[in-house]
Amino acid sequence: MRKTFIAGNWKMNKTPSEAVAFAKELVVSLKDSDTKLMIAPSMTAISQVADVIKGSNIILGAQNMASVESGARTGETSVLMLKDLGVEAVILGHSERRSIYGESDVLINEKIKLALSHNLEVLFCIGETLEEREAGKAEEVCFSQTELGLKGISAEEMKNIVIAYEPVWAIGTGKTASPEDAQAIHKAIRGKIEELYSKEVAEKVIIQYGGSVKPGNVKELMAQPDIDGGLIGGAALDTDSFTALANYN
Ligand code: G3P
Repeated sequence: MRKTFIAGNWKMNKTPSEAVAFAKELVVSLKDSDTKLMIAPSMTAISQVADVIKGSNIILGAQNMASVESGARTGETSVLMLKDLGVEAVILGHSERRSIYGESDVLINEKIKLALSHNLEVLFCIGETLEEREAGKAEEVCFSQTELGLKGISAEEMKNIVIAYEPVWAIGTGKTASPEDAQAIHKAIRGKIEELYSKEVAEKVIIQYGGSVKPGNVKELMAQPDIDGGLIGGAALDTDSFTALANYN
């Protein structure tokens, strides 16, 4: 059985002091949750949030990371810096990184390999745009992103990979994929993992859904057999809503 994994991507929201206050509330409100939980604050808040959630049942995640360990990369954050702060997981390949910052599949693959080599869990995001969906290419795009992003990654390393299917048209728009549509893509992605690795790896890999997940729709999404959790943006930004998501069942 795959354990449900609910993660909050705070994106570029909350100043460090707001983040600390929020994290303190979450530590209390989520303490009895038996769901696997993660929060990913902005880089400027990670250090302080790390202190707040230390010893709690919440995993500390980062929203991005550089593709090399150290050196001349103005404005970037390295895997070594993240590890030193107690970060355990990193979101890579998010559509905002792909579309706004031009991150390619090749770059994302380099980042994934580096993160895995430092024992970070990777939340690897994939998903099609509206145009691609309307052209009937949703699966094709997800397959290609999956194959290229996971190039050179072993079956053993797949234990530290979580796939987050985030249809771009559903992110921050209030439009959610219907549970049936999301399930169809999740099932197809699991099939692709079976083809690339094995049935065993495919059955174990956690596939999260992301895109306007809210307390009102989380239950029906999570009820789908191939949806194993959520990567949540807007609804992860306040205590009541994130707590409701964590405790949806
Ligand atoms: O990474 C989470 C994400 O992109 C979904 O955002 O605001 O639609 O829940 P949101």
